[in-house]
Order: sequence, then C-alpha cells, then structure tokens
Amino acid sequence: MGSRYARIAGLGQYVPPHVVTNQDLARLVDTSDEWIQSRTGITERHFVEGDEATSSMAARAGCEALATAGARADEVDLVIVATSTPDYPLFPSTACLVQASLGLTRAGAYDISAACSGFVYGLITASQFIATGAYEHVLVIGADALSRFVNFEDRSTCVLFADGAGAAMLVASDTPGGLLSFVLGADGTGGEHLIVPAGGSRRPPTAETVGAREHSIHMNGREVYRFSTTVPADALRRAAADAGLAVEDLSLVVAHQANVRILQTVARNLNVPEDLFFRNVERFGNTSAASVPLALYDACAQRRLKPGALVGLMGFGAGLTWATAIWRWHDLPSNP
Ligand SMILES: CC(C)(COP(=O)(O)OP(=O)(O)OC[C@H]1O[C@@H](n2cnc3c(N)ncnc32)[C@H](O)[C@@H]1OP(=O)(O)O)[C@@H](O)C(=O)NCCC(=O)NCCS
Repeated sequence: MGSRYARIAGLGQYVPPHVVTNQDLARLVDTSDEWIQSRTGITERHFVEGDEATSSMAARAGCEALATAGARADEVDLVIVATSTPDYPLFPSTACLVQASLGLTRAGAYDISAACSGFVYGLITASQFIATGAYEHVLVIGADALSRFVNFEDRSTCVLFADGAGAAMLVASDTPGGLLSFVLGADGTGGEHLIVPAGGSRRPPTAETVGAREHSIHMNGREVYRFSTTVPADALRRAAADAGLAVEDLSLVVAHQANVRILQTVARNLNVPEDLFFRNVERFGNTSAASVPLALYDACAQRRLKPGALVGLMGFGAGLTWATAIWRWHDLPSNP
C-alpha cells in the first residue's frame, strides 16, 4: 500500500440555541460588557439548557461532518471525542454515546482528556491511524459544556467559558497533505492553575465538596495567561520548523479561542500580523475542546482555507497541555 494521508472531508459545528450576552452576565455578577470586551473580546456565548449535554452537541456536529463528507455511518472506523465535560464522570464515555446516537455500528470509540488542547490532540491521534493504513474513516469531535461547571458567583471565570461542539471527518487519501508535523506538550506541574478540585477519585463528591463549590472551575488567570501567551507560540514555531517552514509561511493559524488578547499577544510574540490568527471568540467565548473545530468551520465558511493552504493549528489549556500541528489543506469540504 502507498502512503496514506488524512484529508478533512467534512466539518460540523453545533452550539446550543440559548445565547447569553455580556449584559446577561452583568445581571448575575459584578461585571460589565466593557470589562469583558476589553479583557477578552467576548460579546456573547451559548449555554446548554435542559436535557442538552456534551454528547448531544457532539452528535449534532458529528452528524454534519459525516454528511458533508458523504460518508455513511457504517463506514466510520473510529470516533474520538475530546472533552473535559463528559455526560457521565466515569462511564460510558461520551464517544460511546455519540457512537450509539449516530449509529456508527463498526466504530471503536473513546474520549481524549486534554482540556482545550483536546481537539488538536485528537486530530493528531486520528491522523496516525490513517497514516498507518489501519483506518479509512475517523471522526474527531471536540465538545464541551463548561457552563455546567462554572461558579456563577465567580466573575473571573463565569464570563469566559461556554458550550459547543465541532467535528472533523477524516478520510484516508492517496494525495499528499493533511498532517505535516506536530508538537504535543504538557506541564503537569502547572495543573493547579486551572482545576476542578473535586468530583474525581482524589475528592469524590460529598455534601461538603458541593457546599464548598469544589466541583466548579478554579483558575489562576494570570498564570494561565502567562503560559498561554508563551509556550504554545514556541510549539507552533517548532512544528513549523519540523515541516521545513516558518510561521510566516502559514496562510492561517487556527488557535484555541480563549481570548482575543491572548491571540494578539501570541501573534506579536511570533512577529506575525494579528490577522494571521483566525478569530471567532467574540461570538462563542471559550468553548474548550470545541473551540478549534468551531473556528476551523467558520474559517472554511469564510473561504479562508484554500486548497493546498498551509494551516497552523494550536491548542492550549488545562493540564497544562498544548498541541500544535501544521496541516496542508486538501480541498474545501462542501460545507458550510
Ligand atoms: C482572566 C483575565 C481575563 C483577567 O484579566 P486581567 O487583566 O489579568 O485582570 P486581573 O486578573 O489583573 O484582575 C483585574 C481586576 O479585575 C477584576 N475582575 C475579574 N473578573 C472580572 C469581571 N468579570 N468583571 C469585572 N472585573 C473583574 C479582578 O477582581 C481584579 O480586581 P482587583 O484588581 O480589584 O483585584 C486574564 O487573566 C486572562 O485572560 N487569563 C487567561 C484565562 C484563560 O483564557 N483561561 C483559559 C485558558 S484555556
């Protein structure tokens, strides 16, 4: 068999219908539209309601990616869901729920936990299965419902995080392209800077942990900011160098949409124009594992990804984790 390359044949996007504006949040906590916009660039975001959960958003995004790629459900070999907010804390995995919901009868299924870096970790993982010739069709989904784990009395976090899902249908191709190089990284010594302290095996749920709000996100914003504006930029530079490129050779960088200020600072640190970094954080907020595929989808919709384009992908977040990749775009999926 000749070389196999992972082609993104379809993308999918889903955000819940419930829109929450900065003004809505200002009615809950002591904040303002002006503060949120000037510090983060966010104007609105979407939150799940009622029965919605990570798997229901993931399935909708996955369904669109599958349909756009023209792939049949029973052709999918594997579904990987990157999430930190699975429907159930232990099992079944969210990928298994998506597998059932979409009728992916032949597919293996598992979740990846790498916080906001998760989708890029997943895309890189999926590409290996295709490059080895093991699999032809791999569905990669990034989905999170962080609004379920935010403390709406903590103004420093509740204005940042939001919900959504994005998906990419990878199909094996003989045409060179797809993943050219990547850097996966982690620094577990910084784990405490972005953490949900209870609910796992160290501190299982008790009335006390619930009362102390230990099941919601605790963040040291300044440390996370410092990390986010330095380490991932270096990893992008290294991934580009591994592909024989410089960052300025890329036609677009689709990075985790945490915050406009972070993206601007990263661009400055890399000495490239700000608009090399795609932005849609203003409408979606920080959707964690969903943010890179939501941005890829919008970049595609805005025709910012031309056939043959060299695209930088960059995830960074809790763990601490980061993942960067250089991707050669094959052609435009026919959506959206
Ligand atoms: C969170 C973040 C926006 C805060 O911005 P900042 O300019 O660093 O703000 P500071 O932390 O210095 O806080 C400044 C003041 O604003 C206040 N503040 C925090 N959140 C606020 C809000 N939503 N509204 C109004 N004031 C707020 C703080 O209490 C602080 O007040 P004080 O000086 O009286 O103590 C910034 O640290 C950041 O972007 N960090 C990275 C977060 C992130 O992206 N995490 C996810 C990565 S995957």
